[in-house]
Amino acid sequence: MQTVNDKRTDPRILNFGSLNIDKVYKVPHFVRPGETISSLGYQCFPGGKGLNQSIAVSRAGHRICHAGTIGADGGILEEVLTGSGVDTRYVRKTESITGHALIQVSDAGENCIILFPGSNHENDQAYMEKVFSDFGEGDILMLQNEISNLDFCLQKGREKGMRIMLNPSPMDERLRRADFSGVTWLMLNETEGQEMTGEREPQRILDKLLERYPKLQVILTLGGEGAVYGSKSERISQPCYPAEVVDTTAAGDTFTGFFVAAVAEKKSAAEALRLAAMAAAITVSGEGAAVSIPDRSAVEERLSII
Ligand code: RIB
Repeated sequence: MQTVNDKRTDPRILNFGSLNIDKVYKVPHFVRPGETISSLGYQCFPGGKGLNQSIAVSRAGHRICHAGTIGADGGILEEVLTGSGVDTRYVRKTESITGHALIQVSDAGENCIILFPGSNHENDQAYMEKVFSDFGEGDILMLQNEISNLDFCLQKGREKGMRIMLNPSPMDERLRRADFSGVTWLMLNETEGQEMTGEREPQRILDKLLERYPKLQVILTLGGEGAVYGSKSERISQPCYPAEVVDTTAAGDTFTGFFVAAVAEKKSAAEALRLAAMAAAITVSGEGAAVSIPDRSAVEERLSII
């Protein structure tokens, strides 16, 4: 029998995603226009939606290859990925500055983030072609919106017959107008759902997205209200599990990574949502992004006692 330690290898999962250094400032409240405040604490963590999601997949027990570009100062991010069991053979290093994020975390554990894309915007098509040449039909491709040439990645994944998990964060004008017909799973939050559909009510957001893309499976995360899932044949509501909120950074990334690992194991959408929701609940009770993502065993243990 396969255990979490000898990770599952089938199907193969490729995450073409961002790698950031997160500079996290603890603040009494988010800084307002014209205001200067002193932070109550500062810490530097590995992060980036891409890196966080790869680590979540790996900690959920599935092998994953990460591709993306770090700058001269980004070696630590590669080490963190490797240390978490992620395959980094496709990670590329340039002489530029690694992407970073300035993150304010309030007393309530909420965050707001300024991104500097840095080397995440140096992913060019020739490099992508090379990486994609190793993947094919049935493999899973994970994407977020923090790298350059995202459209090209979507196109390559589709051409190769890969199943695509797209997390359209951070949302921008280009993505609002993008064609998602090659996407298998769309993982987005309520604000992104509203921006894409003009609807406010979660079930209406699902209706609108499924009208546009009938083959899509949509996972709409609702913060403290949990998540809803919709496909053409099924609707599921997944409540949030109770947690003491310290820092919500990477909760969505953890949810995404555990969901992908679970569907790669052929678990049902309902089982995948349950696992993802518990993993996210554990993540919000720790500081930082990647460092707060739990192992599968911790998630299973918590699920066994609720
Ligand atoms: O989703 C959280 C991540 O968003 C942080 O780690 C930060 O790097 C930004 O990309």
